[in-house]
Amino acid sequence: MKLIDFGRRSGLRVARASIGGMRLPEDHDQAVAVIRRAIDAGMRYIDTSRGYGESEVKFGKALKGGYREKVILSSKWSPWIQKVEPDDAPTADCMLKRIEDSLRRLDVDCIDFYQVWNVHSPELFEAATRPGGTLDGIRRAMSEGLVRHTGMTAHDKPANLLAYLPSCDWCEVLLLSYNLLDTSCAPVLAEAHRLGMGTIVMNPLAGGRLAGTSPELENLARECGAKSVPDLALRWLLSNPDIDTYISGINKPSDVDGAVAAAEAGPLAPEAYARVNAFAAAKSRTAVGYCTGCGYCKPCTQGIDIPEVMTRIYEDRVWGLKDAAAARYRRMGKPRADACTDCGNCEAKCTRSLKISDEMKYAAGNYELKK
Ligand SMILES: NC(=O)c1ccc[n+]([C@@H]2O[C@H](COP(=O)([O-])OP(=O)(O)OC[C@H]3O[C@@H](n4cnc5c(N)ncnc54)[C@H](OP(=O)(O)O)[C@@H]3O)[C@@H](O)[C@H]2O)c1
Ligand code: SF4
Ligand code: SF4
Repeated sequence: MKLIDFGRRSGLRVARASIGGMRLPEDHDQAVAVIRRAIDAGMRYIDTSRGYGESEVKFGKALKGGYREKVILSSKWSPWIQKVEPDDAPTADCMLKRIEDSLRRLDVDCIDFYQVWNVHSPELFEAATRPGGTLDGIRRAMSEGLVRHTGMTAHDKPANLLAYLPSCDWCEVLLLSYNLLDTSCAPVLAEAHRLGMGTIVMNPLAGGRLAGTSPELENLARECGAKSVPDLALRWLLSNPDIDTYISGINKPSDVDGAVAAAEAGPLAPEAYARVNAFAAAKSRTAVGYCTGCGYCKPCTQGIDIPEVMTRIYEDRVWGLKDAAAARYRRMGKPRADACTDCGNCEAKCTRSLKISDEMKYAAGNYELKK
């Protein structure tokens, strides 16, 4: 696979398809095989974390036998996502301890990138970047030669992210969620790219939802010259000059092959790219006037995660991804939409004046398994 500059800050080069390590097969031998298949096909950048179960250990095994030298290895940790010990805190000392854990689990002497993991509020950004915070722990590891570069991964509001970027001169790469179903981070990717950060996209297939059945998306893929909806979704990302690489959550050989084939096919033709952009814009939550996920309706008197249920309905009704929406709905813990008592409490607070209780009935009727 062709390599491109990984932003200006890191001085590295990267292939446009990269390895996401959150959904590797349970079986270690199978995981090693799928990782090596990806590296043999030219994927270079690896995204893993202490927080992805045994992922680091599986990469440690896969990178033996000369594979370590072929990759850019990246891991990450933050105490607000995963406490390894009960007194874990956002301090430099604690971060250094967790980096040493990652080195052991990956069985390597040095990690190419260690990232501040999952900033999702200004308070967490401050906890990471204040003197003595987690970023200082990464800096100490860099000065000791344990880590080469750093960056940040985030699930924050785009406006917050845009406010952080000017002070992030330390951040060599930025990892954000971005896909056809959610383009809200487009301005952040553009600004990060302008500043010279390497830009990485996670959830390129919306965690697998864009691999589900949708007649409308299948038509669009055909008309745009893509082999399938996943191929369309990945090549649409590659058409965006602000994105350096996407990390595909590889779980099986065909995931690797699809990610590599899309990268090799490259960006969509300009007319097809414009067409997909127009399609996505017309279906955005703002354009269709649906739930924005603002959360003002919370808390539900029965404990239902209303914005989560509304998101599943949006994907089903607007994008035609009914099966994927139902499957994801059923992975939500209880209580789910069938617990709604019609109390009306949420509707009085909804910023879009949505008939939430009717929507809960729709979700319960369509997504709960029939008894
Ligand atoms: N920093 C963070 O906070 C954070 C958060 C989330 C994720 N991540 C990283 O981002 C990576 C990517 O996110 P993701 O795992 O959600 O990625 P994704 O590629 O959007 O979704 C992965 C799922 O999509 C399906 N899939 C993947 N490639 C396919 C292909 N070519 N054709 C058809 N289906 C395909 C598979 O689902 P099935 O197995 O169901 O077929 C796979 O499990 C993660 O692995 C992780 O490394 C980071
Ligand atoms: S109407 Fe249903 S969803 Fe809304 S607060 Fe009441 S129980 Fe919860
Ligand atoms: S208040 Fe309305 S728009 Fe906001 S999350 Fe709740 S249902 Fe969605």
